[in-house]
Amino acid sequence: VSGPIHRRGLLAIGVGAMAAPLVLRGGVSAAEDPFALGVASGEPWPDGFVIWTRLSQSAVGSLGISTPVRWQVAEDAQMGRVVAQGEVGADLRKAFAVHVEVAGLRPNRPYWYRFTALGAQSRLGRTRTAPGRGARVKGMRIVAASCAHWESGWFSAYRHMAEENPDLVLFLGDYIYEYSYRGERAEQLVRRHNEDAEVDDLAGYRARYAQYHSDPDLQTLHASAPCLATWDDHEVQNDYAGEFPMGLSVPKDRFLARRAAAYRAFYENMPLRGRSDPEQNDGRVRLYDRYRFGDLVQLDMLDGRQYRTEQPCHSPGTRRGRVAPATCAEFVDPARTMLGVEQERWLYDGFRRAAARWTMIGQQILVAPYTQPAPDGSLGTFTDGWSAYAANRRRMLDALVGARARNPVFLGGDMHAFVAADIKADPPNPASRTVAAEFVGTSVTSDPSPDSLMQSLPQNPHVRLFENRHRGYMSLDIDHRRIETRYQAISDRRDPRATVSTFHRFTVEAGRPGLITHP
Ligand SMILES: [Fe+2]
Repeated sequence: VSGPIHRRGLLAIGVGAMAAPLVLRGGVSAAEDPFALGVASGEPWPDGFVIWTRLSQSAVGSLGISTPVRWQVAEDAQMGRVVAQGEVGADLRKAFAVHVEVAGLRPNRPYWYRFTALGAQSRLGRTRTAPGRGARVKGMRIVAASCAHWESGWFSAYRHMAEENPDLVLFLGDYIYEYSYRGERAEQLVRRHNEDAEVDDLAGYRARYAQYHSDPDLQTLHASAPCLATWDDHEVQNDYAGEFPMGLSVPKDRFLARRAAAYRAFYENMPLRGRSDPEQNDGRVRLYDRYRFGDLVQLDMLDGRQYRTEQPCHSPGTRRGRVAPATCAEFVDPARTMLGVEQERWLYDGFRRAAARWTMIGQQILVAPYTQPAPDGSLGTFTDGWSAYAANRRRMLDALVGARARNPVFLGGDMHAFVAADIKADPPNPASRTVAAEFVGTSVTSDPSPDSLMQSLPQNPHVRLFENRHRGYMSLDIDHRRIETRYQAISDRRDPRATVSTFHRFTVEAGRPGLITHP
């Protein structure tokens, strides 16, 4: 370690102590702590990963000049064997976010990291590199979460996810919410967004992420393992689709400016590579990518929002998702796409080269069809889901089956319910053969999906579980013979000390597509 580093943060922290609150010594108040937004790591590859932090505005002030931030990566939790280090600048232009792409490390082992700036030290983060390409991997644990509305509850699910000591954390959308509750519902909330209004500009989205990153449970999770993140709609606006806002009367250029601000704030606040920076990509964020974990898992992370065509069969006044008659012809229009032409091509090409035991696809919504009641009582199709882009889903499943990609498993979010389904070769036909399994975690805090969806379970025989009463996450233990998925429910989203228990388990066995349920 070079330079006069004043150690004021926590020093050696083991995994068990990671839930401890950030204690600053030397008279630095939390408001002045430059690392009040925590640390994170992501995008594990065999010789490195991204480490991230974002200095708090209150500590840095509104300086236009760059603040130097030192970073260190070590092989041990005591930071005794430092194997990489350097210094980067935190700039106002990027809201004082710091992304470091660390390379040259050894595969499939843990590393620890921390930052120092302005005389203070960050908490210690733990992360790990991915196994080498094709390397024999015995097993791994992936935890996945989605839909964390700050106002709806405490992030206890995140704390319990960290306690599972995962190899990888997946965020499958709605990491923040752009809207705030008002009126009667607002009075029952456990905590409030800083801004009462719906955020729609760069300052607003940045402040929203800063608030979420101030949460100790989210910080604990990020400091415990590397993550991969995709987004859903609420990182920008409810039910937007590609370049189409929810509201029909909003001018396109105004919505694209809003989207660009939201995308920029997302990049600034996630441990993503520089190549995802929208400033280098004409306002877009390259989020979809393929990750390999030795011979065990190929994980394709998809972006089902940015490149979508407009939702089909929307109501005359708004694109807000609704249940439309299943007979609406636009649902099967082959010109419509959830992923966009380029991402579709990339995905199908990857299926052909999938060599790992498990072909996993992480994305934001339910892939299986789900017939549900329309307001008039008839059964229909939700216009914001995969069934509304049925031709794209058909192309995706045909490519998966045609490529003989081994043991496909889909992971998703959005439903605010635990859902488990068999994916059928011909999805609308429950009698067709099962080709994949699907797991959807419930929300971290967000309100449950309507009970009417749960009551539609008998109309959806390929769906094995639909349960909206619990908030929580899912945890997957993966080895070469099977995946065991636990649906983990927290006791009460209104309790900051909520406990966790396993609500249900499913197994998928290699070589046998679909779910095996446990009593
Ligand atoms: Fe959500």
